[in-house]
Amino acid sequence: MKTEVYNATTQKENGTNICGRIIRDGGLVAFPTETVYGLGANGLDGDAVRRIFEAKGRPQDNPLILHVAKKSDVKDLWQHVPDDARRLMDAFWPGPLTLIFLKSDIVPDEVTAGLPTVAVRMPEHKTALALIRAAGVPIAAPSANLSGKPSPTAAEHVLDDMDGRIDAVIDGGACRVGVESTVLSLVGKPTILRPGGITREMLEQVIGAVEVSPAVLRPLSEDEPAESPGMKHKHYAPDAEVVVAVGSVRKIAAIICREYDIAEAMGKSCIILGTKQTQSCYHGMRCDIIGDRDEPASLCRELFAALRRHSGKVDMIFAEGVPEDDSGLAYMNRLLRAAGFNIISD
Ligand code: TXA
Ligand code: MG
Repeated sequence: MKTEVYNATTQKENGTNICGRIIRDGGLVAFPTETVYGLGANGLDGDAVRRIFEAKGRPQDNPLILHVAKKSDVKDLWQHVPDDARRLMDAFWPGPLTLIFLKSDIVPDEVTAGLPTVAVRMPEHKTALALIRAAGVPIAAPSANLSGKPSPTAAEHVLDDMDGRIDAVIDGGACRVGVESTVLSLVGKPTILRPGGITREMLEQVIGAVEVSPAVLRPLSEDEPAESPGMKHKHYAPDAEVVVAVGSVRKIAAIICREYDIAEAMGKSCIILGTKQTQSCYHGMRCDIIGDRDEPASLCRELFAALRRHSGKVDMIFAEGVPEDDSGLAYMNRLLRAAGFNIISD
């Protein structure tokens, strides 16, 4: 299969309409959102949705998010719209927040992996919204990477993984947020299953107390139930060993320098994902400055691109832990998974 590439800005109307038709007809189109690129199919067509799983090599038990172009579309997809959902949609849609509630009968089991609930989000990216409108159906879309790889934040990343496996990609440039949406379950107590651009602090201002699933910052043991099936699967792994240093800023830089020297002495090639604050500590070492520790959202924006940049090119990637509040929670959630929870401290 040849994968066509459309450009969101130069061929806007034409490309989006063609891709809308491809989706309506059961095909697969990767498209930009404000979080990461999605791999879309007609969310009401079980056969089309099955093709997403084949193209990604995604485990069958991991459900998908339905993307809608207007808030009122959730009425058809959920059994009813709970009050908390209404408030959150008014505050954060369109935007990087996915809400989970009991599904209606029109949602195919292929989307939910057989669960009684369905995840829905209204993205904020203009091209994503135009594509959903052109398709005229909710679009089921996971991140557009091969299963297990870092999520794509640029069209080139999508092509690296998916060229020849899908019908088309719409190139909309780099994604603004860089990590996937916050996933919040509204079945029972509101619970964050995956942290993202809309932080716990922001959600609590609108609906009061919000829990965070234990799987967010540590691996689940064999007998613990996964509230979100995605959390038990391997994730975001580049082709290199990733190590996360935690502690105070000063200690983190010292630990990384020490471990870098040990690894290089053993003949391993290394790179450090540094920050504005620690740049000077890594003098003479290979280092990629990915953002500002005081603005963890800047680290979120660059993380997946950085993992892909160095994947297969070095043996080891050293990264800095950050405090787990605000966007730091989403950053640590992705980084710790990319590292397979390989953590070093003093
Ligand atoms: O930002 C995003 O959310 C991106 C863009 C493309 O919208 N999409 C994305 O999809 O990250 P995906 O499939 O890579 O991640 C969806 C996550 C998975 O961890 C999945 O297990 C969880 O949401 N999920 C989906 N439906 C669920 C459900 N009914 N119950 C519990 N977890 C669910
Ligand atoms: Mg994903």
